[in-house]
Amino acid sequence: MSVPQPPEPIPGARLLFALDPAVSHLNHGSFGAVPIGVQRAQQRLRDEMESNPLRFFTQGLVDRIAHTRRHLAGFLGADPDGSALVGNTTTGVAVVLQSLGLQPGDEVLSTDHGYGAVSLAIQRECRRTDAVSRVLPVPLAATDEQVVQTIRAGLRPGRTRLLVVDQLTSATAKLFPTAAIVGVAREHGVPVLVDAAHAPGMLPTPVSSIGADFWAGNLHKWGYAPRGTALLAVAETWRDRIEPLVVSWEQDSGFPARIEWQGTLDYTSWLAAPAGLFTLRSLGVDRVRAHNAALAAYGQRVVGDALGVSPAHLPDPGGPGVALRLIPLPAGTATTIDAARALQTRIGERLAAEVAVTNWNGRGWLRLAGQVYNTADEYERLAVRLPALLAQR
Ligand SMILES: Cc1ncc(COP(=O)(O)O)c(C=O)c1O
Repeated sequence: MSVPQPPEPIPGARLLFALDPAVSHLNHGSFGAVPIGVQRAQQRLRDEMESNPLRFFTQGLVDRIAHTRRHLAGFLGADPDGSALVGNTTTGVAVVLQSLGLQPGDEVLSTDHGYGAVSLAIQRECRRTDAVSRVLPVPLAATDEQVVQTIRAGLRPGRTRLLVVDQLTSATAKLFPTAAIVGVAREHGVPVLVDAAHAPGMLPTPVSSIGADFWAGNLHKWGYAPRGTALLAVAETWRDRIEPLVVSWEQDSGFPARIEWQGTLDYTSWLAAPAGLFTLRSLGVDRVRAHNAALAAYGQRVVGDALGVSPAHLPDPGGPGVALRLIPLPAGTATTIDAARALQTRIGERLAAEVAVTNWNGRGWLRLAGQVYNTADEYERLAVRLPALLAQR
């Protein structure tokens, strides 16, 4: 079968970024890339801060943060009064975990697609409270219905105090049917935390339509915000019980200010985040989404072809709207997290291509992203050169 045509490039988009042109940046998923205009917007805010730090921090900063939060929450379809800005999804997850008041014998349920750092946070909170972390295996190819059934069967009402699911998984690029999962969990009285690290800017689903008790997503990946910008949305019943990781001056102001104000920090990434959404909107949100997903799918096919993986064996756990795609690596490659990291570094150094090599359940995968700054020839070059590199093990 022939490889489908790549999407039409978005003219001029690459020039919006400061990326090294000698490198193919095919891993937007890990740390994003901040457009130059957004970097400038943040620098202007830093200039303002440095011209009079006292005035910047004491006159209106809390209100400016609230205004920014409302703007970002509005874009994401989240309740502006039920959302708090946090530095990243990892922080949002930590805030939720330590606010639960887990008791000995309670259980936190997650899936084997969960993000490594989030799994470590769950484990630590469970150790600290004598609670139990239980991980449900979910096959990569499971249909939405099978995922929901697996989760329904895995819940232990009365014991499961939190279910953690990803909206779009990191290692496996799998889209979870989060609204349906939340519905099932609710029937059983189990609160749900959705790890939506990749959702803002990539997925169109409004946060409120998922209905989760907690939802945490990064704007600094697909929303083009400066790094350190994420939103934590919290259902009304929980807002009074949510405690910040660091107690500071807004502690008595309640949610969300007490979560947001964490002492003296550089808050300019949050204030500049609307410039990221402005860039996205200027390019056309739907156009960017369609372009990125189609380009990632194209990259998956050309690199898959080069590695001898037939289209039937290329997984599609995210579906057509997802800008992250997986290619299975040859058996025996990247079978541990350390080996995956080493291979990722080697591909970066030898092929001048930044990719994600993931390891999931002992198997290695190449994860390719599509972004407006990518072009079809970057994936084609990788396809030509990768097989020889993999053969030199
Ligand atoms: C699914 C998932 N959860 C959480 C995170 C953590 O994001 P951050 O490092 O911005 O907190 C990531 C990062 O890639 C992720 O993919």
